[in-house]
Order: sequence, then C-alpha cells, then structure tokens
Amino acid sequence: MAELAPKCQSTLVNAPALRLRRTPIRMYRSTITNQSKSCELCLTDVTLIEDRLRKRNSAKQALRLKTRGDVYKACNFDSIVTDVTDKPFLPERSLDFVVSNCVLSHIPPSILHPELLALRAMLKDTGYMCMMIGHDDHWSFHDHLVNQFNYYRYSDTYYQAIFDTKFEYQNRLAKPEWPPIFDRARLEIVDYHANVTDESRAQIRALPHLANRFAKYPLEELAVIHSYFLLRKMPDALDH
Ligand SMILES: C[S@@+](CC[C@H](N)C(=O)[O-])C[C@H]1O[C@@H](n2cnc3c(N)ncnc32)[C@H](O)[C@@H]1O
Repeated sequence: MAELAPKCQSTLVNAPALRLRRTPIRMYRSTITNQSKSCELCLTDVTLIEDRLRKRNSAKQALRLKTRGDVYKACNFDSIVTDVTDKPFLPERSLDFVVSNCVLSHIPPSILHPELLALRAMLKDTGYMCMMIGHDDHWSFHDHLVNQFNYYRYSDTYYQAIFDTKFEYQNRLAKPEWPPIFDRARLEIVDYHANVTDESRAQIRALPHLANRFAKYPLEELAVIHSYFLLRKMPDALDH
C-alpha cells in the first residue's frame, strides 16, 4: 500500500469521511474534483492513485479499502482530530496542500482568523489551499419550502435570537465577505470559481427583503451557492 501513496503531503480539513466508506477511491475523486476544479495538483495525485490501482486489478484492490483508516492509509493521509484550532498541529511549512469542503462556513468568525493563521503556518511557502464554501442557508436543506438563501433576510441580532444554534452553526458570511478575511490572514486568492445558477438568482429575487448587511451586495454575488477559493501565502508573509 505504501507505494500507492502520493509524494505530496496533504491534509484534509475535516475529510468527507462517511462518504469515503462506500466507494472510497471513486467518491474521493469526485469529492476532490467538485471542490477543487481549479487545482490540478490534487487531481494529479488522485489520478496517480487510480492508475496504480487499475494496474493492480483495481476492483479487487479498491474493495480491500473498507474503512476510513484504510483509505487514509492508501492516500498517505494521517488522520488528526483536534479541537485546538488556533495552533499548528503539524510542523510549520510541512504541507503542500490544504483542502476543506463546506467547513469554513461553520466556523464562528472569532475562531476563523486564528484557525486560518494556524493553517497558513503549516503550509509550505510554495503550497496551496483550496477552500470550498457553501453560502446557502443549510436550514433550507431540511425544508424545501424555505428559500435557499432565507438567512439573508435577517439582521445579525434577529438571526442570532431566532435561528442561531451550535447545532449546524452557520456564520452567514456571504461571498463578498470572504476576500477581506483571507487578506487579513495574508492569504492571496490565486483562483476563484463560483457556482451560481439561474435558479439561485431567482431565489435571491424571491426573497421579500434583504437585511442591510447583505442588501449592499450585488445579486450576482448573493446568488453564489458555492465558492471555490484557491489560496497561497502572500509574498510578504514569507518570513525566511
Ligand atoms: C458540513 S460539515 C462538512 C464535512 C465534510 N468536510 C464533508 O465535506 O462532508 C462541516 C464540518 O465542519 C466541522 N467544523 C466545525 N468547526 C470547525 C473548525 N473550527 N475547524 C475545522 N472543522 C470544523 C464540523 O465538525 C463538521 O463536520
């Protein structure tokens, strides 16, 4: 198994663990493909693993990857679970690539900045981060009568009083609010892809009103369902 491992060291920030159990390599690839359309680095590694699996009778090999641990081992990932999010949990400048899928929108703003700094500290100077962020109101997943962006209607005070919960917490950071956050963490956006559709634009138009916090943003930005940010350290952050 060791020789299947990609050479590049990577970390999954909250890996899509449950889904990996079923059809590990295929699911792994599709998840990474969805979240890092602009990042060939990751896809290259996944393709490498797939090619090698194929050469060794892929079906048999893949079926042996029964647990999350097996998949991590085949991909040369170490699973590290920690609630200390404001400090590096691996050596500084040790990671080529950091990827997160639908995680940043669940982190309270006060925790987000120190966590981004910790992730940046672990990133190599030549490394990249791919952050997929879901901007839609996750409560709408459970009730299809609710507008996809329902939470843009409410002020922070009203939202916190009525909807805020530690269970499925959402920070409601809209797409235009992310670049300043990355900038403050001295992360440069090198590529960006937005998932926005006619239906998502229609959902924004269908809202009865927008809270002041969001009303200043163009419809095209508010209608972004998912953002894919490819980031790297800003040159002035490279303290040699
Ligand atoms: C919507 S789930 C995404 C899970 C997985 N990445 C996926 O794609 O299926 C959001 C995850 O963010 C995690 N999370 C919450 N706060 C976090 C933090 N400060 N740092 C890292 N992950 C966090 C939660 O544990 C939760 O599993």
